[in-house]
Amino acid sequence: MTRSYPNTRLRRTRASAWSRSMHRETVLTPADLIWPLFVTDGQGVEDPVASLPGVSRWSVDGIASRAKEAMELGIPCIALFPNTQPELRSTGGDEALNPDNLMCRAIRAVRDACGSDIGILTDVALDPYTTHGQDGLLDDAGYVVNDDTVAMLVDQAINQAEAGADIIAPSDMMDGRVKVIRMALEMGGHHNIQIMSYAAKYASAFYGPFRDAVGSGDRLVGDKKTYQMDPANAMEALAEVEMDLAEGADSVMVKPGLAYLDLIWRVKQRFEVPVFAYQVSGEYALLEAGAAAGVGDRDALLMEKLIAFKRAGCSGVLSYHAPVAARILNG
Ligand code: PBG
Repeated sequence: MTRSYPNTRLRRTRASAWSRSMHRETVLTPADLIWPLFVTDGQGVEDPVASLPGVSRWSVDGIASRAKEAMELGIPCIALFPNTQPELRSTGGDEALNPDNLMCRAIRAVRDACGSDIGILTDVALDPYTTHGQDGLLDDAGYVVNDDTVAMLVDQAINQAEAGADIIAPSDMMDGRVKVIRMALEMGGHHNIQIMSYAAKYASAFYGPFRDAVGSGDRLVGDKKTYQMDPANAMEALAEVEMDLAEGADSVMVKPGLAYLDLIWRVKQRFEVPVFAYQVSGEYALLEAGAAAGVGDRDALLMEKLIAFKRAGCSGVLSYHAPVAARILNG
């Protein structure tokens, strides 16, 4: 079939608002959003993150309030990241295993405030707990060792599971961690705890403000290129996804977001599994800075970016703009 003008005028269906809405191929709703939140120590604390205007670190009580806000906005899930006190950080990151650490206290506070009506996604990686800001344990040469790190990550995941996490999200990029975390969850009776693996996570320049927010940026020695992926690679991302699915991931993440839409599409087409994107801190900061500089309307820019993730095949998006977007969507 050859479609040609004027039998076909593709503008016909665009001529009115009702018709445009009838032909819309993808929709974004608050249920597509996951809201990442930074946890800090204390009580009644709201500590703005300078490099993320509009984003704060909240003490555990504030996190519980944000979780309630998410529920009211129709956001189904929050993601928690701790800014561990400096004196609790160590070369081995042992605070990650403390059942009373900031993360676990925040999980329990959200559970107390919201019951099981909201999903709690927790980050598995050692960077918020190490003095060197790397996601794993170092050998004498400063290389992040795989298998010893994985042994820590499993205990970290179980610690979070026992505190009440719903989705374990390993962001460390060690080989084989999903497999052992899944086994440990099964053996611990946590049959319904999900794993959303940061499967295709790149060594990206877009993470700067996040590292400020969790306090790992100034500490970071070197880069993360021996475990996070090279932005030039796509086949390798498919291999990462395949492995994580085979090891027991329920869903996979592509991170960062906007610069990696091709991978969201390819992963979705090839594996037909739930795919999530992380619109990361640098993307948030660039959007805010651009809008403040007069590049365009912040809300319009935001909604256009978010629908792009849906169009590419995402089930949902982690975004610091989640409450802003939900408010827009809720009218
Ligand atoms: C670390 C982690 C990072 C992010 C989520 N988990 C940063 C990093 O890998 O250095 C980045 C999120 C963002 O930039 O918003 N395990």
